[in-house]
Amino acid sequence: MKTVIHEILKVGVIGAGAMGRGIAQVCAAAGCTVQLFDASVDAVTRARQAVQEDLAQGVAKGRLSQEVADATLARIHAPGELAGMKDCELVVEAIVEQIEPKQQLFRALEAIVSPACILATNTSSLSVTAIAQACERPERVAGWHFFNPVTRMRVVEVVAAPRTHKSVADALEQLSGKIGHRAVVTSDSPGFVVNHAGRAFVTEGLKLLAERTAGHEVIDAIMRTCAGFRMGPLELLDLTGLDVSVPVMESIHAQYYGDDRYRPAALARTRMAAGLLGRKSGEGFYTYGAKAPAASQPGSVVGLPDVRVWWPVDGAGAVSAELAAFLAEVRRSPDPFDADVVRSQSR
Ligand code: NAI
Repeated sequence: MKTVIHEILKVGVIGAGAMGRGIAQVCAAAGCTVQLFDASVDAVTRARQAVQEDLAQGVAKGRLSQEVADATLARIHAPGELAGMKDCELVVEAIVEQIEPKQQLFRALEAIVSPACILATNTSSLSVTAIAQACERPERVAGWHFFNPVTRMRVVEVVAAPRTHKSVADALEQLSGKIGHRAVVTSDSPGFVVNHAGRAFVTEGLKLLAERTAGHEVIDAIMRTCAGFRMGPLELLDLTGLDVSVPVMESIHAQYYGDDRYRPAALARTRMAAGLLGRKSGEGFYTYGAKAPAASQPGSVVGLPDVRVWWPVDGAGAVSAELAAFLAEVRRSPDPFDADVVRSQSR
């Protein structure tokens, strides 16, 4: 593989769900031509619609002109078949979080794209090395791990597997900058940096809930207000969706040989099986949509004075008046994410 870093202008995105549509949008906004493909034609239609709505919001808020919005959307094409990736210089996949479909996809892509085309995976937790090893040219494969929502979370992990050619990681780092994201180059290890460190956040948050140490609103409010997180762990799980997060938790636990530190709470799989996925299904730890009571919408608390981590409870376990007032304030606060972002998560 040549070591020349050329500017990537033609990008293919496979999987038009929450992540794929965001990746397509940021690449198109940066001037790249994007070929967006999904096994479901409807998913591509919904993705283009979501991008269009997001761009319209940007125009309404004065962040970009109508001409720029139109040009961005016009750069996202829907070839309708994998062969449409033929001329791409980079293809990034954001399909289901399972290793075999990702390996099969990359094998199929190798028969279509040029030998110089980079293949990137947006996997949250699977081994980039194992995905690469299914390819004829593992040196062209790297992780390019975005965060949800892609258009707002301006950091991305570039994951270099042992055989990833340096020019591939360099090219992804360069493109990350061009699309307005800060690239963090990591080596391939389970969960990379963010989802490894994140176990202490979501897995422990779930355990607090499963052990009935505190309710979901209390856990979230404390992590937001006292620990300074933008969202609490249960709010974050609702945003990501348990259908995505549960396989991630299980995969990282397995890859660390069952280390107890990463053991998922059984509660998560049960809730996933019940379809309580989060925002995308309208019900998770909170409820969403028109029918949801205002009090169940997560909110952010800004500038609350004298916030404490420990709150008195009475002998029967009921919250004190002080904590009740605090929680009432939390529930009245606005949603930390714009309505357009919330809409873009609902499918
Ligand atoms: P999603 O469920 O919203 O979208 C996945 C899309 O891939 C669906 O539209 C589905 O029809 C399509 N698809 C599935 N198999 C396919 C195949 N073989 N060929 C073509 N299309 C196929 O999933 P989401 O949330 O966008 O996640 C996608 C990937 O991104 C996963 O690997 C996930 O772990 C990763 N990821 C997800 C994050 C999140 O917060 N949702 C964050 C970072 C990474």
